[in-house]
Amino acid sequence: MHSTLNFCARVLLTLARRHTALSVFPRNSAQIQYLRQMAPANISASCVPSPSACDFRSDTVTTPTPSMLRAMVSSSVGDDVYQEDTTTSSFEQQIAMLLGHEAGLFVSSGTMGNQLALRSLLMRPPHSVLCDYRAHIAVAEAGGASSLSQAMLQLVVPKNGIYATLEDIKDSITLSDDIHTSPTKVISLENPLGGSILPLMEIQKISSFARQHGVKLHLDGARLWNAVAAGAGTLEEYGRCFDTVSVCFSKGLGAPIGSILVGNEELIRYARWVRKSIGGGMRQVGLIVAAARAAYEDVFPTGLLESHDRHLHGGLEYGQYFLSTPPCSSLTWGRPAFWTPGW
Ligand SMILES: Cc1ncc(COP(=O)(O)O)c(C=O)c1O
Repeated sequence: MHSTLNFCARVLLTLARRHTALSVFPRNSAQIQYLRQMAPANISASCVPSPSACDFRSDTVTTPTPSMLRAMVSSSVGDDVYQEDTTTSSFEQQIAMLLGHEAGLFVSSGTMGNQLALRSLLMRPPHSVLCDYRAHIAVAEAGGASSLSQAMLQLVVPKNGIYATLEDIKDSITLSDDIHTSPTKVISLENPLGGSILPLMEIQKISSFARQHGVKLHLDGARLWNAVAAGAGTLEEYGRCFDTVSVCFSKGLGAPIGSILVGNEELIRYARWVRKSIGGGMRQVGLIVAAARAAYEDVFPTGLLESHDRHLHGGLEYGQYFLSTPPCSSLTWGRPAFWTPGW
């Protein structure tokens, strides 16, 4: 089962701990006290310890920092459905440029970013999306690829046990127009996947193969920050290999909400349309975008590495975790020593 769904079993030891962590349970008085102290009138530079700073279930378990709250207070409040919010438009453009793309679209979640990408890259069935058998789009997006895009998934099991190579992809892809098949129209990669980095060189090989065969390439880069912070490549180097990239600010960076999907202008115009059709158009969304931008500016890249070292090693030292993947990004998946199968 995918790690984010099964976060009790596979605890994410990570990063951005300065920016963590609002415990999902218990909803206790410490949390309430923390948020009260962080209310706009009291926002100060001194950080009150976060109630769940040692909650390692996921890097999505976070609390907004004073700097995020300050950014929210001073954000623009235009209507983004009319594309009149300057905080949102400028951040969309900034992230698109960093990833080497023309345009960006702020969306409420990583799932929405991935699903809009697939919907916008695909034309009409029969068509397939090829991805790692553990990919978030395959196991943790409520079957969105089939319900929203009528796509069949072709699942690849990497021979090396860590990441899918061009060879794996060649073995599984359907390029023929045989009427019995559902041709591969999109390859969707995830990086990092479960804490393991897909090397830039392998992605470059996959990218040129895909382009050669007219197959589109999407990157679920929910935690691409971690791969880049670990020195695996730049955002632009990774971004340029793909037709679309989705990055999350609520993973690793500690923002409360939000992702951005990037691609060319035409694709993003279409994705904006699809986003509206599924109720994802947001009005005064600048408030949320401002927090996401503050998270990006404060944490990426140094905060990721700093917090990883401190907390990963701290957790291991106390014997609380077993690693599920080799720690090769600034991100590691583990499972707690007290884990019981079936949680
Ligand atoms: C790799 C990956 N992609 C996408 C998502 C989806 O993000 P969200 O929970 O914001 O929909 C997650 C969630 O943890 C993820 O781990």
